[in-house]
Amino acid sequence: MTHILGDISIDTFLNEYWQKKPLLIKNAMPQIAGLLEPADIKELALEEDVQARLLMQNPKNAEQWRVKKSPFVSNDLKNLPPLHTLLVQAVDHWSLDVANLWQLFDFIPQWRRDDVMVSYAPQGGSVGRHFDQYDVFLVQGFGRRRWQLGQWCDSDTPLIPNQPLRLLPDMGEIFFDEILDVGDILYVPPKLAHYGVAEEDCLTYSFGFRMPNAAQLLERTVDYAIGQPAFQIPLVDHRKKANSAGLISRDELEQLRLQLIESLQETLSDPECFNDAIMPLLSESRDAENLPEGFGIARSELKSALNSEATIQREPAGRLVYLQKNDELEFWWNGEIIEVPSAQAKIAQKIADGLVLSNSDVGTDDFDFLIDWIEEGRVILNEAE
Ligand code: SIN
Ligand code: CO
Repeated sequence: MTHILGDISIDTFLNEYWQKKPLLIKNAMPQIAGLLEPADIKELALEEDVQARLLMQNPKNAEQWRVKKSPFVSNDLKNLPPLHTLLVQAVDHWSLDVANLWQLFDFIPQWRRDDVMVSYAPQGGSVGRHFDQYDVFLVQGFGRRRWQLGQWCDSDTPLIPNQPLRLLPDMGEIFFDEILDVGDILYVPPKLAHYGVAEEDCLTYSFGFRMPNAAQLLERTVDYAIGQPAFQIPLVDHRKKANSAGLISRDELEQLRLQLIESLQETLSDPECFNDAIMPLLSESRDAENLPEGFGIARSELKSALNSEATIQREPAGRLVYLQKNDELEFWWNGEIIEVPSAQAKIAQKIADGLVLSNSDVGTDDFDFLIDWIEEGRVILNEAE
């Protein structure tokens, strides 16, 4: 497996760095050079369904920030204050070349991926001193940016008041201060203060990861549970003696609490129930409202495209994952369980793993299945240029 960790093995990275320590890898992704230029990002930010933000610092007081969200018209991107940043989310949903760079991070599974955000900033531009709750690989894509790393933060860390962004008044002790060139990667674990200032016109790609929090898991578990008939039946009244008519006794509350624990425990202690409750969340696309539609294709068309070196791969805006269940694989796509004939489980697995398939990977028996998945928008067909 090709990866971007340089001299560090995947095991060492996962054991010593992942979620724990930052890591700078020089020239780890040279292929990013020339992929996008600032003008491409400005153009993309104007597209209707693209999520973008403009962060602007007041020219008279750089500590005062203003944020403007998409949709943008071209005038929004003109006459900006000298210190600004344009952030475009989910660039991997719009550019296949960017989406395919995820393959270099295959040591972290797809369900943990969030999106690739690309930032454009002119010299001096930044998004301010801050920390994130998520893991991010910051890849320098154009120009150079100076990165500083400082203190570990948590929910008690003070923020600058009255700003539209969660900004830190200072970085604490700076233990890392380096200029990243095109192709360099800086891995930043959650909660670490970081601050990147453009040395010149620059693009930084953030390969960001996501992880559900307990509230999200609980919400899905409860949603699932309340859909079960057993949860609709009134609980048992264990009454043994009479109370004052106006009183809800401690005993009564305690009975309700214990019965609720018991009911939830039934859902949570059964792994199958838990899977069904949580898989819709873990397989949810980042941008469920803007999923590209599939298209109909005739068998002969698909055949001739593959013969002419077309390739097939997962639609990058969707999420396709699978669970191992005994000897079978259970596939989930954009929040829903989907049926895959067992003869096609292998090819579906390759697609979910992010492989780019060509003619030699596709058997005659796979055609109907692939036609269906192209129609559903689960896979895309890349015609050779
Ligand atoms: C940036 O690209 O300037 C900011 C990315 C980040 O701090 O997470
Ligand atoms: Co950040």
